[in-house]
Amino acid sequence: MEHSGYNRFDTLREQVVGRAAAPISPGHHVIARFSAMLLFVWPWPHQWTVIVLLSGITVTAILIAVRKSISARRLNLELVSANEKLQLLPQEVKTRARLEESLRDAQKLEAVGKLAGGVAHDFNNLLTIINGYSHMMLDSLSQHDAFRSHIEEILKAGSRAAALSTQLLAFSRRRTVAPQPLDLNHAITNLEKLLRRVIGEDIVFNIRLYPQLPRILADSNQIDQVLINLVANARDAMRQGGTLRIETSRVEIHTRPSKAKDLAPGTYVRLTVVDTGHGMDAETKARLFERFFTTKLSGKGTGLGMATVAEILRENQGTITVVSEPGQGAEFSIFFPGLAVGESCEAVEQESGHLLKGDETILLVEDEALLRQMLVQTLTRAGYFVIEAGDGSEALCKWRQERTAIDLVLTDVVMPIASGVELARQITAESPSTRIIFMSGHTDEVIAYHGVAASGTTILQKPFVRPALLKKIREVLDAGGQDAKRVRSAPLYQRAPGL
Ligand SMILES: Nc1ncnc2c1ncn2[C@@H]1O[C@H](COP(=O)(O)OP(=O)(O)OP(=O)(O)O)[C@@H](O)[C@H]1O
Ligand SMILES: [Mg+2]
Repeated sequence: MEHSGYNRFDTLREQVVGRAAAPISPGHHVIARFSAMLLFVWPWPHQWTVIVLLSGITVTAILIAVRKSISARRLNLELVSANEKLQLLPQEVKTRARLEESLRDAQKLEAVGKLAGGVAHDFNNLLTIINGYSHMMLDSLSQHDAFRSHIEEILKAGSRAAALSTQLLAFSRRRTVAPQPLDLNHAITNLEKLLRRVIGEDIVFNIRLYPQLPRILADSNQIDQVLINLVANARDAMRQGGTLRIETSRVEIHTRPSKAKDLAPGTYVRLTVVDTGHGMDAETKARLFERFFTTKLSGKGTGLGMATVAEILRENQGTITVVSEPGQGAEFSIFFPGLAVGESCEAVEQESGHLLKGDETILLVEDEALLRQMLVQTLTRAGYFVIEAGDGSEALCKWRQERTAIDLVLTDVVMPIASGVELARQITAESPSTRIIFMSGHTDEVIAYHGVAASGTTILQKPFVRPALLKKIREVLDAGGQDAKRVRSAPLYQRAPGL
C-alpha cells in the first residue's frame, strides 16, 4: 500500500464516509476532491492510476479504471496518516468530457499557481523598489510641486500591482497569511479611494459604517482583496450606472437557524456590499464561487474573483451569503466573528499612529543590489545606521566584526550564497537574543522548507511599503523589554491599499 503525507483529511472524510460503494467497470472514473498541499503523481498497483494534481485550493484525485478484472466490490484507497485510516469509495461515475474538463481546470490552476510563485520573488522585489523610491521622491518634493500628482499615480499603480501579486499568491496559497485584530471600518476607509477609482464616475457610491464595530481577526491584505473583488463585480454588473453601497454592522446571533445559516450564536461583524446591477440567475448563483466560472466575455473576466473571496473567507473564518435575482441587483453579506473587547490588541492602534524612526544599527542583508540601495536610503532617512551585506556569508563576517553594535538584522530569505535562514541560524547560535526580521517575496512553501515559519521569527512579506517596514522594525526593536530603545515619531504616511 502506498502511503503519503496527507495532513488534511476532513474534506475527504466528509465526501467519502457513508457513501455506498458502486461497481466499477473499465473506462469508469471516480473523482474526489480534498484539501492537501503537496503534489503527487502516484503509480497505483493493479493498473489503477491515481493522479493527484496540485490545484491550489483543492487537490483533485482522478482514478481511472483500466482493467476489466478489477473487482467490482470496492475500491480501497487507503490514505494513512499517523492515526487515521480512510477509505475512498467509488461514489460517482463521471463522463469522460466532464472528467477532462476538471483535469484541464486543475492544470490551468496549477499553471497559474506556478507562474505566480515563480515570478513572485523578482516581481515583489521590483515593486518594493518602485514603491520605495516613489515614497522617497514624494518626501523631497514640496507640497505644491507639480510632479507630486505624477508620483502619487506611480504609487497608486504600484499598490495595485502589489495587490495583484498578493491576489495571485493568495490564490495559489503561497502567501503567508497573517490574521490580526482588525477594524473593518478602518480597512474600508483606507481603501475608499482605490475603490472609487475601481468603480468609476457613473456609479453612486455610498459607505455606511457602524460606529462601534467590534474588531475581527483577519489578514488586512486579504480583506482588501475581498473588497476589491466584490466592488469590481458590482461595477461590472452596473455598466449603465447604478448605486453601490458598502455597509458594516454588528449582528448578534442568538439561536439557530440564523439568517446566515451555519452561524453559531455570538457576535458578528457584517460587511454588506449591495449593488443595483443586472443581478444573477439561479445557475450563476450556484456556480458563483467556482474557479474559472465567469459570464464575462473572454478577456474581461477570469472567474477567479469570487473563488479567491471564498478561499480568503475560509482562511479568516468568514461566512458569505448572497441574495440576488435577475434584474434585481445583488447583495453580498459577509459575517466575521467579532472579537471581544479584551481581544483587540495594540497592533491596530498603531496603524493610526506614527511613522516610527530610530537610531539603532541595522545589518541589512539583500542580494538584489537595487533593492538594497533603496532600503539603505529608506532606513538612513529614518535615522538608522545601516551596515550592508550582499549575501549571507558577507553578512556573517560583518556581524562577527560589529556584533556589539548591531541591534537588528534585516535579511532576505532566499539568496544565492548562504540563505537568510542559514545566516539566522548561525547568528542565533552565537547570540540567541539577536533580533532578526526576514523579508520574503517568496512562497510560503519556500519559507516552510527553510524552516523560517517554524522558528517564530518575524517575517515581512514583500512587496512592502515604507510605513510597514519601519513599523515592523520598531515593533521588533521595542519588543525587547528593558533594553527597548526610545521611540521617536514622525507623521504617518497613509497605508497604501492592497499592501
Ligand atoms: N455583483 C454581481 N452582480 C451580478 N453578477 C455577479 C456579481 N458578482 C459576481 N457575479 C457573477 O459571478 C461570476 C463570477 O464572478 P467572479 O468574480 O468569480 O469572476 P469574474 O468577475 O467573471 O472574473 P474575475 O473576477 O476573475 O475578473 C461573474 O462572471 C458574474 O456572472
Ligand atoms: Mg470578478
